[in-house]
Amino acid sequence: MIRIFLIGYMGAGKTTLGRALAREMQVSFIDLDWYIEERFHKTVRQLFEERGEDGFREIEKKMLHEVAEFENVIVATGGGTPCFFDNMEYMNTCGDAVFLDVDKEVLFRRLRIAKQQRPLLVGKTDDELRELIDTALAKRLPYYRKARYEISGNELEDRGQIKRTVESFKKLLGI
Ligand code: S3P
Repeated sequence: MIRIFLIGYMGAGKTTLGRALAREMQVSFIDLDWYIEERFHKTVRQLFEERGEDGFREIEKKMLHEVAEFENVIVATGGGTPCFFDNMEYMNTCGDAVFLDVDKEVLFRRLRIAKQQRPLLVGKTDDELRELIDTALAKRLPYYRKARYEISGNELEDRGQIKRTVESFKKLLGI
């Protein structure tokens, strides 16, 4: 039975890699943010606005527990999921957590063009974005590093790179 949680910062490529892995391994793919949006009929941005970050984190934990019941699934978590409550321990207990490690410069490049959908990044200047990535990673890396496996997510820019990362991933997990 396959139950994999992809974790890492925003822009790490959790959704891109998760989708490709699920296709390759013929299992279901769930993006936790999308799952939350479907269950609540609201965007993550709306949920942040209406309930604040604390309210969002409560929902996120509950939904994580819901999807972690599923079998043969790859779950792309949100960038903050592992850093609240006992979510990281929980993921390590019920499946294989894999940290998608990406260089800061690569994260900056990716997030610069995808700020609008992310409540924590909206309206940030380039300098502010760099600073946010720096501070957030300093706080979050200790959580991310609790994952059973780590793999680089630097190379996910085109189909060839995604395919190679999928191969490395399978080798790492012995699949
Ligand atoms: C967040 C990451 C987002 C989303 C929310 C908060 C974070 O997910 O859950 O905006 O705290 O890093 P992605 O990592 O999928 O962008």
